[in-house]
Amino acid sequence: MLELVDVRRVFRVGIESHVALADVSFEVGAGERVGIIGESGSGKSTLVRLALGLDRPDGGVVRYEGTSVAEMGRRDLLAYRRAVQWIGQDTGGAFNPRWTVRQTMMRVNSRLCGLSREEATSRIEGLTARMGLDPALLDRRPGALSGGQRQRFAIVRAVLPRPRLLLADEAVSALDVSVQAVVLNLLREYCEDEGCALLFVSHGLPATAFMTTRILVMRAGRVVESGPTAQVLRDPQHDYARALVDAYTYSEDA
Ligand SMILES: Nc1ncnc2c1ncn2[C@@H]1O[C@H](COP(=O)(O)OP(=O)(O)OP(=O)(O)O)[C@@H](O)[C@H]1O
Ligand SMILES: [Mg+2]
Repeated sequence: MLELVDVRRVFRVGIESHVALADVSFEVGAGERVGIIGESGSGKSTLVRLALGLDRPDGGVVRYEGTSVAEMGRRDLLAYRRAVQWIGQDTGGAFNPRWTVRQTMMRVNSRLCGLSREEATSRIEGLTARMGLDPALLDRRPGALSGGQRQRFAIVRAVLPRPRLLLADEAVSALDVSVQAVVLNLLREYCEDEGCALLFVSHGLPATAFMTTRILVMRAGRVVESGPTAQVLRDPQHDYARALVDAYTYSEDA
């Protein structure tokens, strides 16, 4: 479904150039949940921006359903914007502060979904309840919600257009640990029930292991290891992956 082939991205800052991604290739199949772990600066968010079509590669190609994202026409691009949704670290904070959450959701509906008012209301309230939130919270402004509530609404907003792929970039990192577990559970359940694919980006191995069936390990702009989640956990090949797994195992023992 999503396919990156030899993707390269080089940033120029002054006279220096920095290779943020070097020949990265991988695929996310329909309904598949794939994790990307790697230290800060390894290129994870750069990769997500490319997958969203917000940035263009300097080499290689990003394809969605076989079509290069960089060469999509208006129609393809609109369908792609609907099919691929993003949840960031504090996406909830990006809700318009002057609007109620419901107004923001209705706006997303008219831009991307085109449901009637009644249909949209029932879908929005249904998803809100499914994320464990009281639908009465929809009539609040984002400033009157907790960070965890806002982030759950960010998920509601992302899944409203029935995406086929969700890109979650540190989607729970800003939340309290107890809230993280709840939100991860809801997100995974949603993906499983709807057959929605997930690209889950995180620093943390435990969350990534829980969320995915396949993991890519990135280091300095390269994929240094990839395989089924269980296999990477059992027998990590690369030093960096091994260090992550050791730290994980240690904290599990503690
Ligand atoms: N617009 C930009 N201009 C210049 N350099 C950039 C730009 N965006 C990213 N970089 C550089 O590219 C590298 C990869 O950044 P990226 O944000 O993809 O890392 P990351 O893996 O998401 O890190 P983190 O875990 O901290 O979020 C970094 O060295 C960063 O400084
Ligand atoms: Mg990042």
